[in-house]
Amino acid sequence: MQIILFGAPGVGKGTQAKILSQKYNIKHISTGDILRDSVSRGTKSGIAAKEVMDRGDLVSDDLMGGLVKETLANMDYKTGFILDGFPRTIEQCKIMDSIFADLNITNPFFILLKADTEVIVNRLTQRRFCSKCEIIVNLNDIPNVNTCPNCGAVNSFIERMDDNAEVVRKRLGIYRDTTLPVIDYYQNKYKVAILNATDSVEVVTANIVKELI
Ligand code: AP5
Ligand code: MG
Repeated sequence: MQIILFGAPGVGKGTQAKILSQKYNIKHISTGDILRDSVSRGTKSGIAAKEVMDRGDLVSDDLMGGLVKETLANMDYKTGFILDGFPRTIEQCKIMDSIFADLNITNPFFILLKADTEVIVNRLTQRRFCSKCEIIVNLNDIPNVNTCPNCGAVNSFIERMDDNAEVVRKRLGIYRDTTLPVIDYYQNKYKVAILNATDSVEVVTANIVKELI
């Protein structure tokens, strides 16, 4: 099963991808996570990407396309995967077309998650990651803002550099202007399921699962 999870920053791609990856035992490929990993390891591509990401811009298509190709080449993609955060430009769609042609992937599931801007800004400015178990949380939704509800770690939350309100609004503008045209590109090729992402996490998962049957 190959799933492309698409949608604006903060719509819940990472949250849903982690759940689906466990449910279907398939790999979660998040281009943002790959870049952040490169940044923390101090690789050449990470150094090039850090400043771009922190200010909310997109990194170059060449860099991103190369990293996705490399990731797929180094994993057993045949059991399936969930792509989260790629493609984000028409140029990246063309890179993905050639990857899918090479891998003989003809019918991926394309899921678009949608939510209003104010919901997204609120979610992202309250988002934290547990540095111990890597779960994504929202400070609005957990009983104790100092304790991870998943692993119990205390003071383990970290915040992304690009999650302040100003950068979030910039990322949303880039999504609207540069990334949304990707939907038109794929609606002519594949069925695209459009789902409401403002329901609870569980309801959004259930609605995605219905599309995958
Ligand atoms: P990336 O890491 O992909 O970020 P993004 O697309 O901006 O999306 P986010 O990760 O911010 O949000 P999400 O949809 O995963 O939401 P989440 O599940 O965390 O990219 C970061 C940067 O890397 C880019 O800006 C760019 O610079 C670069 N980059 C990456 N890919 C690139 C590419 N292909 N080309 C060029 N550059 C690229 O949820 C958000 C919050 O909401 C959490 O707190 C969560 O707990 C909460 N939440 C989730 N679902 C629900 C729900 N149903 N109800 C209530 N709360 C919810
Ligand atoms: Mg994410």
